[in-house]
Amino acid sequence: MSSASTQFISASEGIAVTDRSQAMHRDIDRIIISQKQLQDRVTALAKEIASDYARSEEGLTLVTVLSGSVIFLADLIRQLPMKMRIDLVTVSSYEGKSTQSVEPKLHSDQPLMVRGRDVLIVDDILDTGKTLRLVRAWVKREKPKSVRTVVLLRKPAKAPSEVVVDYIGFDIEDLFVVGYGLDYNSLYRNLPYVAVLKPELYED
Ligand code: XMP
Repeated sequence: MSSASTQFISASEGIAVTDRSQAMHRDIDRIIISQKQLQDRVTALAKEIASDYARSEEGLTLVTVLSGSVIFLADLIRQLPMKMRIDLVTVSSYEGKSTQSVEPKLHSDQPLMVRGRDVLIVDDILDTGKTLRLVRAWVKREKPKSVRTVVLLRKPAKAPSEVVVDYIGFDIEDLFVVGYGLDYNSLYRNLPYVAVLKPELYED
């Protein structure tokens, strides 16, 4: 298990959107992670995870944090050739772009089925770490056999070092990003890439 190949993506490396004929692309300032980069990295993460859990008899339980992780989850699990269960949890804390310190709350429609199981927590982005700290503590209380975490994105400038993440897609600058599941005011989740919006679109 390693995230040695985690790539740091700086916004200055981003590329401008050239085709603005489709409405959803018009609000984008810069693409910072392309569709191809996402596909390649998710494939590499899936290989690493499949290899690490190759001996897991019971397979995995993926505890997925909604809603930003859905596209990442869908792409990842279709490349994991093992038995798995999927539990969906919601953590409410953020509104719009604001990352002010609101204490997150966790909700799940069903009790988690994680006791004695190998659990992989799946999240879209590690920012301040509050979400993952909460989800991890919740899972651990249920006495799983093991717990690991995968995130698509991490903002290393903000993420506290004590928040353990076992698999990381990309490290990014401390910028508010959208696309590939991530939203701004519930929009832009369906963008096939990760991008930064035009600055005038962010309310403060
Ligand atoms: P924490 O601070 O708890 O944050 O690690 C994790 C959650 O915050 C949201 N978040 C973002 N959402 N673009 C988004 O669309 C961002 O740049 C961003 N930063 C944090 C997200 O819901 C994540 O699970």
